[in-house]
Amino acid sequence: MKPGLFITFEGIDGAGKSTHVEALAAAFRQAGRALVVTREPGGTPVAEQLRVLALGAPMDALAEALVMFAARRDHLLQVIEPALARGDVVLCDRFTDATFAYQGGGRGFDWTVLAQLERWVQRTPACELREPHLTLLFELAPEVAATRLAGARAPDKFEAEPVEFFRRVAQAYARRAQEDAARFARIDADRPREAVWNSVVGAVRERGWLA
Ligand code: TYD
Repeated sequence: MKPGLFITFEGIDGAGKSTHVEALAAAFRQAGRALVVTREPGGTPVAEQLRVLALGAPMDALAEALVMFAARRDHLLQVIEPALARGDVVLCDRFTDATFAYQGGGRGFDWTVLAQLERWVQRTPACELREPHLTLLFELAPEVAATRLAGARAPDKFEAEPVEFFRRVAQAYARRAQEDAARFARIDADRPREAVWNSVVGAVRERGWLA
């Protein structure tokens, strides 16, 4: 049995990561790998309910971070850990880096408290600290992302934030990537989709996970 693979997709709203989640899923399926495609906050009935609250209802930054981590705990135990134990590939649209970026960077919430919550929540029966094997970080200037999002649909609570918020989110993502460089592939998302896709699939092939 092949070992499980946990790959996450991150970036500011409008960076265009979601289409690449689907494309990478198709590539792994074609290679015959069993696969789970999921997202955060969400991925279980409980976590999807928490998503509705987190994306819709105003709350302070600590409450927001706790909701994100509560959803994550349920998702990790119900979906991600069992999938990895089966040897599946797990593709997850956002994970803990988003909490550091949005609640830490965007809202200015305490980074060390988030790091403590991360250790609590991501300790599982199988693993001292469950972390992604690879995080694809889609990087795009917040001004460009804002024009991509404009008029696309009714914005949720985060998408309605001003460009300065997303500047802080992007900086926090960059900090996470610097602090754990081996886990991250930083992808310039300000290019045609095909070029971005080549970088995505290249990062996975480089690690020997796709032929
Ligand atoms: P997103 O992943 O962009 O989904 P969609 O494509 O449906 O908009 O939406 C999730 C939002 O939640 C996004 O704005 C980032 C935010 N978020 C946090 O603030 N903290 C977190 O820990 C996570 C996982 C997401």
